[in-house]
Amino acid sequence: MAQVLAQLYEHGSPQSLALVVLLFLVAMRLAMPRSRAEKLLSKLPSPPFRLPVIGHLHLVGPLPHRSLRDLARWHGPDVMLLRLGTVPTLVVSSPRAAKAVLRTHDHVFASRPRSAVADVLFYGSTDVAFAPYGEYWRQTRKVVTTHLLTPRKVRCSRAAREQEVRLALARVRDAAAARTAVDLSELFSFFANDVVCQAVTGRLPREQGRNKLFRDLLETNAKLLGGFNLDDYFPSLAGLNVVSAKAVKHRKRWDNLLDSLIDKHVRKTVTDEHEEDFIDVLLSVQQEYSLTRDNIKAILMDMFEAGTDTTYIALDFAMAELMRNPKTMAKLQAEVRRCAGKGKEIVTEEDLSSMSYLKAVMKESMRLHAPGPLLIPHFSMAECDVEGYTIPSGTRVILNVWALGRDPTCWESAEEFMPERFMEEAMDAASDLQGNDFRLLPFGSGRRMCPGINFTTATFETILANLIYHFNWEIPPGTTGIDMTESYGMDVHRKEKLLVVPCVAQDV
Ligand code: HEM
Repeated sequence: MAQVLAQLYEHGSPQSLALVVLLFLVAMRLAMPRSRAEKLLSKLPSPPFRLPVIGHLHLVGPLPHRSLRDLARWHGPDVMLLRLGTVPTLVVSSPRAAKAVLRTHDHVFASRPRSAVADVLFYGSTDVAFAPYGEYWRQTRKVVTTHLLTPRKVRCSRAAREQEVRLALARVRDAAAARTAVDLSELFSFFANDVVCQAVTGRLPREQGRNKLFRDLLETNAKLLGGFNLDDYFPSLAGLNVVSAKAVKHRKRWDNLLDSLIDKHVRKTVTDEHEEDFIDVLLSVQQEYSLTRDNIKAILMDMFEAGTDTTYIALDFAMAELMRNPKTMAKLQAEVRRCAGKGKEIVTEEDLSSMSYLKAVMKESMRLHAPGPLLIPHFSMAECDVEGYTIPSGTRVILNVWALGRDPTCWESAEEFMPERFMEEAMDAASDLQGNDFRLLPFGSGRRMCPGINFTTATFETILANLIYHFNWEIPPGTTGIDMTESYGMDVHRKEKLLVVPCVAQDV
């Protein structure tokens, strides 16, 4: 059967494929008795208009965070069940339900659903982000949180970050001198990529032109992981593995690159002068944690995958919001220039600690524009009660943190960009980005929370403060404003480039 489907997928029309899939699934469904899980799921609120085979997939538009929020309003403001293909998916859309899933029952919901593409790309999902909950995940997560992304490590990589800031500033100065617009989306993307490359692999990549290769590889990763993967919604058709076949080819390219980098690190002598990068660290703890070479490669890929696009997207949205809100931009500029003082070649990370408005800008931008608006899907490992419903074991769970951030019952003027809301003392203390405020979860919360938050904060604040300190910014003449249209891939980013004209600030 799988072979027939594979041939149809390659050569047949979409209609003939849909018909055969329909018959296959209906036959399977009829052959199965109604399970306890099915009975529990049928009690959950769920939209009508469910179609055979695809279930509710047709209700999920090109911007899923938005269509899920709209569906939840009508059919389940706290929790709602969608049938995405054959996969029952719980959608969580209120802070109370998010707290139940990520705090009260964190231990139950801390696994990940299987993804055929992630299995291929991440060496059997032996990275951190896609690994199912269990001893292996616990150990690799410990490697990442206690050896790679600790506050001390983030502080140590400060010189490398500042070096990347200098290079970015030089590019902007050239544009300012020529009075041309800078593509800040591209600048942020290169910057985030270069910062992560430096931290992970040391100085090798840039010198050998490899940063661009990493960017290309990550772009294909995003296409493979973010696209419509038949396997994710119809796991019983796992034989029909066209996307996975592409992923196998792509993984080979990663293999070549990562193997050569690891080999170079293995060959490095102790007298080589360099700052310890992530590859050095992973090699040094390899035995202690019984990591295979494939495990190391999977963890390295995670660092690139999880750390690069998210950071660039966060910066791009923040700057776009500042350009749309000149008063906020002026207020931030005043703070940065006051705290850093006059005549600085570069605003350093020491200067950042007193910039409370900058921190409020980051929170507010992440509230409105979480780069991963639906987190990474969670997966329940046991039966458990949430908001009065029993959720069966084996349910895929999506947390719509984008909807939480814009919930008008939780936030005053929820759709407006107002960093001031985080300047009130009580609000500032209650609303950190550390997963304690269940209305504000761009990094998630609980066991699966992002371990890269310190790294991100340092990267985000350094470049933004420097761009704001050294330059005044204008929208290019002849354009009407900043287009905030979104595009959904693996993350949600702005669709259009952020083109803005820099002018060197004379009074700093
Ligand atoms: C703006 C920047 C970033 C954002 C918004 C972000 C957001 C997230 C989110 C939403 C998750 C999933 C949480 C969940 O499923 O509950 C996650 C997981 C993860 N992030 Fe980040 N992240 C960012 C930067 C980084 C960086 C810089 C790194 C590392 C260099 C990183 C490494 C990871 C890893 C390894 C995981 C998987 C955690 C696990 O499954 O246990 N992230 N991140």
